[in-house]
Formats: sequence, C-alpha cells, structure tokens
Amino acid sequence: MSTPVNSVHQLAVAEAAHATQNTTDSKDKKPTVLESHGYFLGKTIGTGSYATVRMAHSERHEGNVAIKIVSKFSAPADYLKKFLPREIEVVKGLRHMNLIRFLQAIETTHRVYIIMEYAENGSLLDIIRKDQSIDEMRSRKWFRQLVSAIEYCHDRGVVHRDIKCENMLMDIGWNIKLSDFGFARGHMKPKNGQPILSETFCGSYAYASPEILRGIPYQPQFADIWSMGVVLFAMVFGRLPFDDSNYKELIKQVSSKVVFPKEPKVHSNCKSLINKILAPLKSRIRISGIKQDQWFSFEENQASTSRERRSITSESDVESRRLSVDPDTLIPPNLITKDEFEARARPRGARRDSGEEEQPVKTENAFESDSEHDEKFPVSKTRKPGTKKDS
Ligand SMILES: Nc1ncnc2c1ncn2[C@@H]1O[C@H](COP(=O)(O)OP(=O)(O)O)[C@@H](O)[C@H]1O
Ligand SMILES: [Mg+2]
Repeated sequence: MSTPVNSVHQLAVAEAAHATQNTTDSKDKKPTVLESHGYFLGKTIGTGSYATVRMAHSERHEGNVAIKIVSKFSAPADYLKKFLPREIEVVKGLRHMNLIRFLQAIETTHRVYIIMEYAENGSLLDIIRKDQSIDEMRSRKWFRQLVSAIEYCHDRGVVHRDIKCENMLMDIGWNIKLSDFGFARGHMKPKNGQPILSETFCGSYAYASPEILRGIPYQPQFADIWSMGVVLFAMVFGRLPFDDSNYKELIKQVSSKVVFPKEPKVHSNCKSLINKILAPLKSRIRISGIKQDQWFSFEENQASTSRERRSITSESDVESRRLSVDPDTLIPPNLITKDEFEARARPRGARRDSGEEEQPVKTENAFESDSEHDEKFPVSKTRKPGTKKDS
C-alpha cells in the first residue's frame, strides 16, 4: 500500500532562537562573524533537527545565499565530529548544475555556518503537496536531473545516502538542486573492482533500500538508485510507495512487487522503470540502464500523445509477489535518521549558548572555486532580505 507523501516523517522543528544572530539592531554594533564575511542574515527558510537554514544577502555575490547554521551547543557530538565535517569535505569538491553549490564554511567557537547557493522555489515535497502529483513530462525532466546529479556524484566516488523529496530543492528556473549532503560520503569508488561497502545505516525509512532495512553492509550507490525510484514513484503518484510506520510491514512491502495506485493514470513505461529500480539488489537497474530506459529517454515531441496513452494499466500491476524473507526473523537495523539526532541533541550537562560573542575558528572555501568563477556565480540578484524584521 502506498502512503501519502504528506505523511513522510517530518523533522522536528528546532528552535531558531539558538542559532539567531544579532544583526543590524544598532549602527555602532561590532559586525558579527558573518557580517565580517559580507553576509547579512534574513529570514529562516528551513529548520532541521539541529540546523537552521537562513537566507542571507551576500555582498560578494550581490544576491541571496542560504546559510545552514549548526549550533555546537545543541548538535550531538557524533554529528559534529563525523557527519558535519564529512558534509563539508564532500560538498567542497562538487559542482554540477543540479546540485546545490557550496560556497564557504565558517566555523566559530559557537557554530558552524555552511554557505551555499539559494534555491528560491522550495522543495519537490512542497510541489507534490501543492499539485498532488506531478505530470509525467515534469517528472521526467526532474528525474533526469536527479539521475544526472547522482551519476556525477557516483563518478566522483560520492554517495548521497539521503535522497528524498525534501532534499530536492528548486531553483528560480524550476530545475532540481539536490541538497543536504549530511549523510554523504566520499571515496566510495570501487577499488580494483572491489566495491566499498557502507555499514552506516542512515537516511529515511521510507526511502531505504531492502539491504539497508535488513541491516547488512550495502553498496551505497545501489541504495541511492533505490531512493531515486521512491522519488519517481512519489512524483507521478503523489504518494510514497512504502509505508514506513511499521518496520515489519515495510520489510514486507520492499520485498514484494510494487503496488501501483489506480489513480492517477501513469504510463506503463514509467511503471516499468519504477519496477526496474525498486527491484531486489541483484536485478536492480544501474544508472547506465536507467539512461537507456524507454520512459527515461522518451522525447515528448516525437510521439503522439494518443499512442502513449493507450496501454496504461494492467492487472498484473497489483499482483503481489511472494516474500523472499520472513520479516519475523529480522530485527530493524539501527537506522540513523535525522529524527534520531534530534532525540540525541542537547546532551545532559552540555554547555549552553551563553550568548557570549563567538570567535572565528576556521574558514573553508569550495575546492574548485576560484575568485573569477565566484564572481560569476548565478545567485539571484535580489535586494537584501529584511534583516531587521525577519531575524
Ligand atoms: N540552499 C537552500 N536553499 C533554499 N532552502 C534550503 C537550502 N538548504 C536548505 N534549505 C531548506 O532548509 C531545510 C533543511 O535543510 P537541510 O540541509 O536539508 O538540513 P537537514 O539536515 O536538517 O535536513 C530544507 O529542507 C530546505 O527547506
Ligand atoms: Mg534535509
């Protein structure tokens, strides 16, 4: 049974207050660390379990940027030591038109700031909620962009491990910008033909591949492909394919044939691609196969719509397949989700943000970025966000 996309386990809303900086209250006030780097904070655009994302005006880019603010006082130690440095390390070296571009990271005594390209049109999840489902033409465009971004990452040995509709942002021209490399890892390219397996079971249950859910070391590239299949299903049907509210049910569902809702009507070629992606590891399609797939490579203006409309559903679509595993014998893996970080946040006895002035510790810039390129970075040339009112 598919699940409404709306029911995706939402991240708890962290209080923005701890990450709030005093901005331009008074003219003679000493500039904050961000201001000294030319960033002027505006409204909050997103809140995660332990990070707040705010819009900011950048003097250098003459436009808006997004700043992910992580408080060292509220984020759990393993996130600060393991995942956050990895996120920065990974995003530094990536540049692709369908990936949110990293600009700079600034560490202070109190916080870590990740400065990145701003995506003005929200997330794919927002669009699905608004439009209920996405027509096949738009779904194909966005799915192709996602595949292109992930192929680029995998070619460079980077795995994302948290692909989902919430992390697919939209730029001003309604192009996908994949974001949130919080669970990503680099150096995952197979060595001497030997794949490197992941043992960190992370991400969101609804998007997790059967091998992750079974808690066995897995090849993260194939798990990313699975999550892309969940995204494609969510786009065209406006629902998630698997219900993550019960682990046993979830294991059963991911091990069975995908059940497609009767409505909205979706072309059998699209369902066939979803079936090839949401398949057991051994038969799961690879990126090269996805790119050759009929639905994926379909050129809209080449064929008549009526011909495309003919074969839409067949009864076999709802036929369920026998389970290959007995869910009763399985124990849920300790999947690290962002919600879990939330539960572990603010450890007892931890220091609190006393409000004393933060001091800069370290600044990192994008690897391949050179000053010439930075000037050309296509940020939206809008006016400074209302720092006073919004902050
Ligand atoms: N570059 C960006 N442009 C616009 N909105 C963003 C950007 N980065 C993050 N956001 C918003 O902030 C939310 C949380 O950011 P994200 O990096 O996904 O953090 P988390 O690790 O808490 O999920 C996103 O879901 C999105 O709504
Ligand atoms: Mg996220």
